[in-house]
Amino acid sequence: MTRQTHAGPGDRPSRRAVLAGGLAASLCAPFPAQAGSWAADSLHAAASAKGLAYGSAVNITPLRRDPAYGRALARECGLVVAENEMKMNYAWPEPGRQAFAGGDETLAFARANGQRLRGTTLIWHEALPDWARARINRREGEALMRRWIGLIAGRYRGRIESWDVVNEICGPEDGREGGLRNSPWLDALGPRYLDLAFESLREVDPGAAGLWNENDLELSADWINRRRAMVLKTLGGMIARGVPIRRFGLQGHIYSTHALDEARLRGFLREIAAMGLSIEITEFDVDDRAYPADVAVRDRKVADFARRFLDVVLDEPAVLNVTTWDITNPNTWLNANLQRRRKDGLPQRALPLDEAYRRTPLWRAMHKAFTDAPDHRAARVRLRGV
Ligand code: XIL
Repeated sequence: MTRQTHAGPGDRPSRRAVLAGGLAASLCAPFPAQAGSWAADSLHAAASAKGLAYGSAVNITPLRRDPAYGRALARECGLVVAENEMKMNYAWPEPGRQAFAGGDETLAFARANGQRLRGTTLIWHEALPDWARARINRREGEALMRRWIGLIAGRYRGRIESWDVVNEICGPEDGREGGLRNSPWLDALGPRYLDLAFESLREVDPGAAGLWNENDLELSADWINRRRAMVLKTLGGMIARGVPIRRFGLQGHIYSTHALDEARLRGFLREIAAMGLSIEITEFDVDDRAYPADVAVRDRKVADFARRFLDVVLDEPAVLNVTTWDITNPNTWLNANLQRRRKDGLPQRALPLDEAYRRTPLWRAMHKAFTDAPDHRAARVRLRGV
């Protein structure tokens, strides 16, 4: 079964979407008829030649301050996602105050450049403002979830190709029912919170593909094997119950501290695809913490690791796209994360562009991986998640 998605380049929002979306008047103009702004030699051009897409998370701060940042995103990407601005703590910081400026600007940027837009994230145990955390309880939790999804997915109805409906829900080590991780949503609503979230999105924006986005599934370790098993079992249950999930998101934060077992990753992706779901690589970057300080050596190792990972994922016909978690090294979230930042204090070389927006060896590895990937267009008709 194939389904039409919204927000492709050249699409127009429906009249209903415009009226119901509540967007500022300036955003309600039809989508531009132009093709995308990406360059002929860009990552997205290489990806789209194979029926794939390349995208990046957009950080609103440099987007506002530095025109070169916007130009780099426009030049390389066919797809974007707001890194933070559609998360609850940004978009609904106080019960009586919603803040959509950053999300609206990201949407306007995507439209101006003919790019598709993803949405992150509806239900997560992080990015919760204190006021909301206090209301995620048995009495108020379900109503709050429905209100939040109605609010954010309603505002961008018809504009988002796929929403991260649930994010990072896997946690077999927490010992909870079904291997779900500890979360205020689990405490308040029990495991049915997953089904509720996907059903709520379908009610609000049925054209947006509902996606489960998950971390720590890519590399080789016993604890990662247990996580993969949990994911496959949980997905099987959701599909059997008729939960409207259409895609699975492999975050793709790979880290140099662990090895890649190609055969296991390949088998895992194949099993997800066999359930009829399509797959997105939603937050790709390479954490170089275990590599030496020397930039040339590090860049080469990062590029080699990325290439091995991408060769496996791009071989899987169900994979639709690869989105990096930002595009330039200075913006990587890894430097701000206590567990992930380098012990020597050097900034990570995790992303395809450097501090001067020059293409790095990682960019070249990604470009080559897209160029050498099998053509994905033929596979599309068999997938329900497209
Ligand atoms: C991160 C952002 O990059 C940071 O700026 C923010 O402070 C915290 O969230 N997995 C996810 C993303 O699903 O939403 C996270 O993004 C990175 C890890």
